[in-house]
Amino acid sequence: MKTHTIALIPGDGIGRDMTEAAWSVLKKAAGAHGFALKGTVFPWSCAFYRETGAMMPADGIDILRSFDAILLGAVGWPAEVPDSVSLHGLLLPIRKSFAQYANIRPHRLLAGVEGPLKTTRFDILCIRENTEGEYSGAGGRIHQGTADEVAVETSIFTRKGVERILRFAFEQARSRRRKLASVTKSNAQKYSMVFWDDVTKQLTAEYPDVEVTSYHIDAMAARMVMAPETLDVVVASNLFGDILTDLGAAIQGGLGFAASANINPERNAPSMFEPVHGSAPDIAHLGIANPIATVWSGAMMLDHLGEKDAAGAVMKAIEATTAAGIGTAPGRDRTDAITAALLAAL
Ligand code: NAD
Ligand code: IPM
Ligand code: MN
Repeated sequence: MKTHTIALIPGDGIGRDMTEAAWSVLKKAAGAHGFALKGTVFPWSCAFYRETGAMMPADGIDILRSFDAILLGAVGWPAEVPDSVSLHGLLLPIRKSFAQYANIRPHRLLAGVEGPLKTTRFDILCIRENTEGEYSGAGGRIHQGTADEVAVETSIFTRKGVERILRFAFEQARSRRRKLASVTKSNAQKYSMVFWDDVTKQLTAEYPDVEVTSYHIDAMAARMVMAPETLDVVVASNLFGDILTDLGAAIQGGLGFAASANINPERNAPSMFEPVHGSAPDIAHLGIANPIATVWSGAMMLDHLGEKDAAGAVMKAIEATTAAGIGTAPGRDRTDAITAALLAAL
């Protein structure tokens, strides 16, 4: 039987419950579609950091490299480990080491979901640059703790990095409604974002069938609330895409619905699948987090692994569950009840 090997990193807070819920749904889908998922759990997390002094072992990246894909819950427990340590010790190195430069985040309303825009029809695919830009990690602090302290954090925009994410977004637009919105801020950022606009324009010539519009990030934030139906594929830098995709989650009813895939398009290293949300310390251990975002991310993983039918079945199960009014409002149904409904629908 065809077997896909999956590295499971539940991480912190609700990440553990979400991964467990998603894994049960994905395993069931695999069983019904004639393939196997072999999971190996890695307890890398803030608890692991407290025990070992590191978020993952020194050879963690090498260990993950041999897997077909990675399913991650969430990383971060700021009460005990600073986010600047935990995220730069696990999540961000995985994205960068495996050149998962395309972060794909779909935002659309599932049937029955009671979001703030529940009467609007929209279907947005956000493509976020995932390895450089504002989150490149280049910078430093000097004269720490003194009145002369200076902090510098430099955005890195490379031609290779910008061109490949824009090209990826153009291709996505081509496979959808052929509309691309390129998110900029070239009115204020006169080097990096003017460069981003230049590369957008250069590629536009190669994709005459795709209608391209550039929007400033501030105007895009308003547009996503006021007129989301005018958007198809949205491509943005790392920081802009990060913020816009929490906004995207909000318009689709909450962070419990927002899925994400960190894709290595060349497939020379594993891709990673995780929800947009974090470890949600405010509701961790309450058993009320919505697993749909992680299950949807799992469906994206099955699709990436070539299991299109199983991925479609998981998406149908999600739609059937929300159409029945289960998991549609934050905090109303318990994680276990939503997971049971997903399994039953499958
Ligand atoms: P968060 O996404 O964890 O939570 C924001 C809000 O959304 C909270 O009120 C939370 O209860 C709610 N929420 C999140 N997921 C939900 C779900 N599945 N169902 C219902 N409600 C949900 O963001 P935060 O509070 O800013 O961050 C908490 C920690 O997670 C921090 O350490 C942060 O750095 C980290 N984080 C990690 C990731 C990741 O691993 N990919 C992503 C974002 C944040
Ligand atoms: C996300 C998260 C991460 C990011 C954080 C936790 C570093 O917010 O996946 O959206 O900004 O990439
Ligand atoms: Mn984010």
